Amino acid sequence: MNTPHGDTLVDLHADAPERMDGDVPSITLSRRSEADLEMLATGAMSPLRGFMGQKDYQSVLDDMRLSSGHVWPLPVVLPLDHSEAEKVRSEEVALLQDKDGRTLGKITISDIFEAAKEKEAEAVFLTTDSAHPGVAALRNFGNWYVEGEIEVYQLPHHLQFGEYRQSPSELRKTFDEKGWKTVVGFQTRNPIHRAHEYLTKCALEFVDGLLIHPVVGETKGDDIPAKIRMECYEAIIDHYYPHRHTFLSVYPAFMRYAGPREAIFHAITRKNYGCTHFIIGRDHAGVGDYYGTYDAQRIFDQFSTEELGIQPLFFEHSFYCQRTHSMATTKTSRAMDHEKIFLSGSKVREMLMTGEPLPEEFTRSEVEAVLRRHYQNG
Ligand code: ADX
Ligand code: MG
Repeated sequence: MNTPHGDTLVDLHADAPERMDGDVPSITLSRRSEADLEMLATGAMSPLRGFMGQKDYQSVLDDMRLSSGHVWPLPVVLPLDHSEAEKVRSEEVALLQDKDGRTLGKITISDIFEAAKEKEAEAVFLTTDSAHPGVAALRNFGNWYVEGEIEVYQLPHHLQFGEYRQSPSELRKTFDEKGWKTVVGFQTRNPIHRAHEYLTKCALEFVDGLLIHPVVGETKGDDIPAKIRMECYEAIIDHYYPHRHTFLSVYPAFMRYAGPREAIFHAITRKNYGCTHFIIGRDHAGVGDYYGTYDAQRIFDQFSTEELGIQPLFFEHSFYCQRTHSMATTKTSRAMDHEKIFLSGSKVREMLMTGEPLPEEFTRSEVEAVLRRHYQNG
């Protein structure tokens, strides 16, 4: 198995103190910060041990590296608005609470600094357009970022997916027990459609195991909710995937829609979960037309495989080929344009909304059944 990013898997779990000395202020976490807290706590974001300070923040924006030199493409910061920041400005520690007042952990505050939002938007999302969901979210957050290492007493309650919630150390153990030496990770925020099925199975031909690792943190409003998608994944795995070589688990991060930079983030964090390979297809983690179809693949050229520590597997645009009656990509098919059936998550959502049937070339009927039920009830 591979080594985690920065060589050791971080673990920030701690026992909650029976009582806190003095009057400790608290910070209420957004759903996104809760997701970051879980990723930090379990070591999914190794080598990070807390929310970034100014030096790492600037270095990530400028060079896609932590100040230690490790590759790191996205800021991991704890934003507060002005009044919240004032409340904790002179404090050494603060409790980290969810919206219901549960204490999830604490942060040892080392600095509070002002966000450079325009620069951050341009660097991370390659646009400052507020129509981009990542940029819109960024503009909505507070302007002050709290730096500090954290300790975590309990994981967020909104990310509960029972047996599917496995930490990096648990997944590593699972892969070990299965005897998988090589594991390919598959990131998705959609139900698994035929194109996804094609990529994952092509990849699986070369490795011991496939980790289907869907995002279950916050996604944009029109994406299909994680709970429904989990039913879709169960259905397709049950009918169409080899159980000896497939494992389903949840990825607690939220979607940034940062395209290329998020692809690097997805790969590094999957390395921490024990994957040796990672799938990057068409417009990975993209939204609208902010990124070129293969930009999320090209960005990998900027780093050596050695410093990334995980092998990216690139796939061209996949479609159903009516000439061969099978899935193919632009790389493997001779089909003319009119013989290609292209599908996308957005197209499928559209058809579900209008009640149009989804052809088998798009989606397996078992997955369609789950989606129909959801759209009829919703
Ligand atoms: S996301 O992370 O990229 O937002 P999504 O569910 O849309 O998730 O796609 C999951 C993975 O499959 C990504 O690596 C994406 O590039 C790839 N992918 C999705 N559809 C296709 C397709 N038709 N052809 C090739 N790759 C695809
Ligand atoms: Mg996509």
